[in-house]
Amino acid sequence: MQAKRYFFGRGWAHVWEVLYFRSQNYTSMYPLLLLTHSLVRYFILIFLVWVIVQSFKAWRQSAPFSSADEKAGVWLLILSHIQLLLGFGLYATSGLVQFTPATMKNDVLRYWTVEHIFMMIIAIVLITLGRISSKKVSDVPIRGKRLFWFNMVALLVIVVAILTSDRGFFTLRTA
Ligand code: HEM
Repeated sequence: MQAKRYFFGRGWAHVWEVLYFRSQNYTSMYPLLLLTHSLVRYFILIFLVWVIVQSFKAWRQSAPFSSADEKAGVWLLILSHIQLLLGFGLYATSGLVQFTPATMKNDVLRYWTVEHIFMMIIAIVLITLGRISSKKVSDVPIRGKRLFWFNMVALLVIVVAILTSDRGFFTLRTA
């Protein structure tokens, strides 16, 4: 009852603030989230390239997937979903994510509020769909072809997203 009054007694704007961790007490998570999100990106790129190379070999040369390749695929899936969660944490705490009338007119604010999340979610969906759809296939070249295209397009989307940000490809920031 007390909790209900806390949330709803002050109007929806306040509920919004609480749900998005806008309180000063929570924003100290931001540097750690940014550093982790930034680091995880490199692991995602490494596993993505690995899966793309191995699935190309499977597609064109019928080379079977090794157990290391299977593990790389699992790690890619796990890390991209961890990245999604970290991304939501950052989205709630970053000062560059703003919902104001000026946001769409400012290149940096528009990128972090709209474009980054949009492109990265597409990439994560592609990685996930590639895995789900290829799991059902036992034929090695067909599985390789599916994995190759889903992950190749995901890689292109991620590279474009990082290149169009205001950061370099090799940055590690905490603030
Ligand atoms: C494959 C998925 C993703 C990759 C590779 C990725 C990559 C990055 C990179 C490289 C940065 C800059 C870090 C730095 O400058 O040190 C960043 C920042 C950020 N990302 Fe992502 N990201 C991904 C997914 C997401 C998702 C899904 C969201 C939102 C839900 C998100 C939200 C953010 C935010 C808010 C920032 C911080 C902006 C700031 O305050 O500096 N990211 N991301």
